Amino acid sequence: MKARLDAIIKREQAEYLDQLLPASDPLLAEMEAYAAEHNVPIADREVARFIEITASATGAREALEIGMAIGYSVVHLARGMGRQGLIVTIEPSEEMIRAASDYLERGGVMNRVRIERGKALEVMPHLTETFDLLFIDAVKEEYKQYLDLGLQRLRAGGVVIVDNLLWGGRVAGGDTETSTVALREFNQYFINHPQLHAVVLPVGDGLGYAVKL
Ligand SMILES: C[S@@+](CC[C@H](N)C(=O)[O-])C[C@H]1O[C@@H](n2cnc3c(N)ncnc32)[C@H](O)[C@@H]1O
Repeated sequence: MKARLDAIIKREQAEYLDQLLPASDPLLAEMEAYAAEHNVPIADREVARFIEITASATGAREALEIGMAIGYSVVHLARGMGRQGLIVTIEPSEEMIRAASDYLERGGVMNRVRIERGKALEVMPHLTETFDLLFIDAVKEEYKQYLDLGLQRLRAGGVVIVDNLLWGGRVAGGDTETSTVALREFNQYFINHPQLHAVVLPVGDGLGYAVKL
């Protein structure tokens, strides 16, 4: 989620694009309200839609998400992937897992989701699946390690999506906060990665998008 509507693009464009999106269905609207009320950083609506479209367009069957929160992006992945899809998502917070389990159950997608409890850097080395899609959205300082570990489990031709790469507009400025510096370094690593064809888009809070070569 971006810090404010016009953190990345000009306000007039941001407002226009925001109102252009169709209204969220009741479940997603409830999740958005819960996230706003409890300060849970879920994906922007356009990012969630982008993920859903990508999952659908690429025919992804197995997706790996790092950082589930209340399951907002998981619902979109599941909808994009359809009934054959499996989403493995990593989340250490029991409070988040409780909230997500309820929403995923009510959304009718829980049978297509495997929640891995724990920290991504501890869980990822034990995964054995080969994934079609990798979505990175947890601790900003660990993005490089998530990508390294995730690429080991992503098939050639698989897609990588990374949220928050412009980090509320701070990455492009002179901000020296640890997470900002880490993301600045990550962006260089991501764009120049020999195993990826990658781009950073001004979508949401800055969205990394790549295909594994
Ligand atoms: C930005 S939120 C995820 C939002 C979610 N992808 C969405 O768009 O609906 C980041 C999540 O990562 C979780 N997290 C924190 N540390 C983590 C770690 N070491 N490994 C995996 N997830 C972690 C947090 O508890 C939080 O729920």
